[in-house]
Parts: sequence; C-alpha cells; structure tokens
Amino acid sequence: MSCYHSLPFAALLVLGNHDLQDSIKPQKVEFHSLNFNTTLHWQPGWAREARDTLYFVQYKVDFSGYCHSWGTVMYGQSTWQNKDECWGIPSHVCDLTHETSAIQEPYYGRVRAVLAGVYSSWSLSYRFTPWRETVIGPPMVTVVHSNKSIAVKLQAPRSPYKRKRGSKIPMTNYYDLVYQVFIINNLLDEQHRVLVYEGKDKVIKIQDLRPGVSYCIVAKTYVPVLDRSSAHSSRQCTVL
Ligand SMILES: *[C@@H]1O[C@H](CO)[C@@H](O)[C@H](O)[C@H]1NC(C)=O
Ligand SMILES: *[C@@H]1O[C@H](CO)[C@@H](O)[C@H](O)[C@H]1NC(C)=O
Repeated sequence: MSCYHSLPFAALLVLGNHDLQDSIKPQKVEFHSLNFNTTLHWQPGWAREARDTLYFVQYKVDFSGYCHSWGTVMYGQSTWQNKDECWGIPSHVCDLTHETSAIQEPYYGRVRAVLAGVYSSWSLSYRFTPWRETVIGPPMVTVVHSNKSIAVKLQAPRSPYKRKRGSKIPMTNYYDLVYQVFIINNLLDEQHRVLVYEGKDKVIKIQDLRPGVSYCIVAKTYVPVLDRSSAHSSRQCTVL
C-alpha cells in the first residue's frame, strides 16, 4: 500500500502543463510475479498524488533480437496493446497474468497518468520474462502422525493457468521441482532446522521419532535449473 498524501488539486494547477505532465508520471513500474500470477505495480509521480489521477496500462511481448545463424532478425515486432481492465484506473496495480502467459517470452509494461486532462508520458518497466523471473512459492504441506512417525504430504504450488477442465496447472508442469523438508522438534532450539528429505516425492515418511515430543515440519521448493529456493512453507506441527 502506498502512504502518499494527496496534494490539494489547486496546488497542482499552479504548475504549468509541462511540469504537471512530468510530476504525475508514474514511477517504479515493476512486474511482481508469484507462480506466474503476474501484476504490474507502480508508484505515483513525484508530486505525490492528486485524488483524481487515473492510470493507463499497456503491455507488449518483445520479440526483437532473435538471432538466426544468418544474422539477427526482427520478426514479429509487437505493438503496444491496451489492457482494457486497467484503462483509466485509480489504483497502482494491474493484473497481467493472462497477457504474459507465453512464459518464455520477454515482456514490457508501461503506464501513464492523466490528471485534469493532462497526460504524462509513458513510464516503462524493465524487461520481464516470466519463466526466468517469477517467484516460485513453497509447497503446501500437510502432516499425519502415527506413533513414531510422521507422513508429510507435499503439494506443488499452482499456477493461475487452467486446464480445459478448469483445474489449475501445477508449477511442476513448467519446472523440474525438488522439495526440501525440514524438521524442528521442541527439544532443539527454534532456529535449528534439520533437513530430512530432498527430492521429488509427494509423500514422505519420517521414522523413528520420539513419542511425546512435538515436531514441526516446514518445506521449501528448490528449482535446480534456476538455482533458486522458495520461502519456507508455513509450519505444520504435531505431537506424537
Ligand atoms: C500406536 O500405539 C498404540 C499403543 O501403543 C497401539 O495400540 C497402536 O496400534 C499403534 N498404532 C500404530 C499405527 O502403530
Ligand atoms: C493473482 O493474485 C491476486 C492476489 O492474490 C488475485 O487477486 C488475482 O485474482 C490473481 N490473478 C489470477 C489471474 O489468478
């Protein structure tokens, strides 16, 4: 959330048109992406934000710079597309999940503002390639305990993209994912996590645990091809 104060409208009117254009130009236009749920975010112009400022979003896929053995070609150079749902909106975020679904392709987004009939110039994002840059979330963890063991069920994070039948496509469809499972017991200090499993299984069993002890499980997703780990899952605890 932004915590910008709204300038009184009159204060902006004393600026010339050119200054107003400049002062309302959106700043820090960035893609945020979690499991391919991709949104464009920005901040208001440096003059802070008047209440009536509205924003317009465009996006494009960047095909330029493809190389062939016989030289660089610029084919399919795409044009800017309006994002209809983010055309004249007061908020600072725009969902581009469906517009960026060719996940291997690089994209750009840009935003301009309008206030009192005056349009800023466009503010451009950096180049964003979903497959390379999306943040991959932790698996969903459930635990079932028996007397001396814990069964841990791991579920891959899901993308927002759907199969024909309507179920969401798991991230394992796009990457080779490895799960890392850690155990914490209440006899050890809180920060001490022991890696008990690393691999692709969806259900693992941790054996030879002590009755009466409370154990917690956390897990991470690791993406070998990108050498990146997710944040920890929420911890799931159980007393044997
Ligand atoms: C767990 O222990 C209880 C009591 O010792 C026993 O009756 C039960 O069969 C055990 N359950 C499992 C799944 O081993
Ligand atoms: C992306 O995530 C946001 C926040 O959780 C959610 O409101 C939005 O519906 C998601 N977009 C898609 C296309 O699933």
